[in-house]
Amino acid sequence: MTYRIAPSILSADFARLGEEVRHVIAAGADWIHFDVMDNHYVPNLTFGPMVCSALKPHAITASGQSVPIDVHLMVQPVDALAASFAKAGADLISFHPDASGHVHRSVQAIRAAGCKAGLSFNPAEPLDVLDWVIEDIDLILIMSVNPGFGGQSFIDSALRKIEQARKRIEASGKDIRLEVDGGIKADNIARVASAGADTFVAGSAIFGQPDYRAVIDAMRRQLAGV
Ligand code: DX5
Ligand code: ZN
Repeated sequence: MTYRIAPSILSADFARLGEEVRHVIAAGADWIHFDVMDNHYVPNLTFGPMVCSALKPHAITASGQSVPIDVHLMVQPVDALAASFAKAGADLISFHPDASGHVHRSVQAIRAAGCKAGLSFNPAEPLDVLDWVIEDIDLILIMSVNPGFGGQSFIDSALRKIEQARKRIEASGKDIRLEVDGGIKADNIARVASAGADTFVAGSAIFGQPDYRAVIDAMRRQLAGV
């Protein structure tokens, strides 16, 4: 299993975002998680496509390898903004199925724009829509907090949902990443991986500490024991 750690810049210093992206990549980040909130689908407001394109040149390792920008849309409606993020350099774009009038169309539009497409599930949202679209997606994002804010506590029922999502991925035979978002820390990441997750978003756990590498290394040590 190749595990990926995706620091969420929601908890970074917004006055120094480019530098924060470079630092967290130097500390070992695999993806940059970019939380888009619209003050409508969720009660908070963050950043849009212009900030994504400004950060794109910073999403690169010291040896020049580009680091995927993992855009998590917490917006309604979905399609127009998804198209703007594809142009702004997003590599993966996830949205909440309950925020789109036509989930399959939104998925197709994201892929047609050259990005990987993901579906994101709130804590009380069932996975049923996957019956009809799992063949068409690249990523499932399980929310382990209610979307809108960093620094919340992990909701345990997400573990059962991760197990169910893993079964669905196995049954599909497709190469789909299973990402978990909310309340992830070094001391619970192993449990989340054991449930079947392979990609871990962490905001406050990483950006809330002075030494990003120490946190990411501690997470990887936990994952190595799974
Ligand atoms: C919440 C966001 C998360 C958030 C996670 O709506 O989707 O990505 O940044 O923050 P932590 O890791 O602090 O729970
Ligand atoms: Zn997120």
